[in-house]
Amino acid sequence: QRHLLGIAERTSDEISFLLDLADRYVVQNRLPGKKLDLLSGRTVINLFFESSTRTRTSFELAAKRLGADVINMSVSTSSIKKGETLIDTAMTLNAMRPDVLVVRHPDSGAVQLLSEKVNCAVINGGDGSHEHPTQALLDALTIRRRVGRLEGLTVAICGDILHSRVARSNIHLLTVMGAHVRLIAPPTLMPSSVERLGVEAFTDMRAGLQGVDIVMMLRLQTERMQGNYVPSIREYFRFYGLDQEKLSLAKPDALVMHPGPMNRGVEIDSELADDLDRSLIRDQVEMGVAVRMACLDVLTRVLRRDAETEAGV
Ligand code: CP
Repeated sequence: QRHLLGIAERTSDEISFLLDLADRYVVQNRLPGKKLDLLSGRTVINLFFESSTRTRTSFELAAKRLGADVINMSVSTSSIKKGETLIDTAMTLNAMRPDVLVVRHPDSGAVQLLSEKVNCAVINGGDGSHEHPTQALLDALTIRRRVGRLEGLTVAICGDILHSRVARSNIHLLTVMGAHVRLIAPPTLMPSSVERLGVEAFTDMRAGLQGVDIVMMLRLQTERMQGNYVPSIREYFRFYGLDQEKLSLAKPDALVMHPGPMNRGVEIDSELADDLDRSLIRDQVEMGVAVRMACLDVLTRVLRRDAETEAGV
C-alpha cells in the first residue's frame, strides 16, 4: 500500500516486517555516522494541524537520516489562516511534487480524505481520536526489544481511552500480534462496546492491573472534551493515576509506558515516570525515529515500484 493511514488494515506479517526493519535502524542510529542516502532526491513534507513535539521532530530526523529533503509546513503562518481548505492545501502541496506527506489533523478521517486527493504517499501522524499508527509501531518495537516478544503478553492501556488515537492503534496492533489487551478507564472515558475489539474493559484500575506485563498510561485529552465531564486532577490521580502502590498489583517486573506528552501527577507519578528500571518512556522516544525511518523506507520503495510499473520497466 502507498499510504500508512492506520494499523487496522495491517496484517501481523506486515507489522513484523516493519518492526524488523526498524530494529536495524535502531542499530544504525547508534553509530556515529548516522546519515544514509536511501531517500536522496526525495522530499518529505510535515503538515501538522495540531501541536507535536515527538512525532514531528522524529519524522524530520528520520527523513534527514535517510537523506531526504524535509519541509516543515507551519500551519499557523500558512494560507489555511486565510480560509484555504484542507483539500486545497493538500492539492497545492501535491502540485509541488513531494514524495511523502506526513499529516496530523484534529478530525478523525481527515488524513484518509487527504490521501484520496494526492498522488504522493501519505503517513497519518495522528487524526483526531481515530489512529496514530507510527505510535503503535514504536510502542511495539519498544516492548519487543525489552521483553523479546509481543505474543502472550497482557497489556493494560489506562486513562482517557475514549479520545485516544494511540489506544485505538495499539488495540489493533497488540491484538493482531497475539497480546491480550485490557482497557482501564473511568466510565465516562471508556468507549461503548469495546469488547467487540477483542479486549477486556475495567473501570476499577486496581482490578485491571492484576498480573499485567505492561502498563501503558494515557493523558487526559482535555482539548477533545468540549462539553463533556472533565474530572478533577486530585480525584483522577487517586483512582486512575499510576503510582508504585498501584503498579505493585501488576507482575513484579511489569514495565510502564507513556506515549507523551505526559502530565506528571495527573495520570502518572513523577518519580515512577523517571524510574529507568520500570519506565520505558525514553526508549519509546528513541524507537520513534527508527520506526519512522522504516515507514519512510518502505513507502518510498512502493513509490519506486509503482513508478517503474507505470514506466513499463
Ligand atoms: N506521542 C505523540 O504523538 O507525541 P507528540 O504529540 O509530541 O507528537
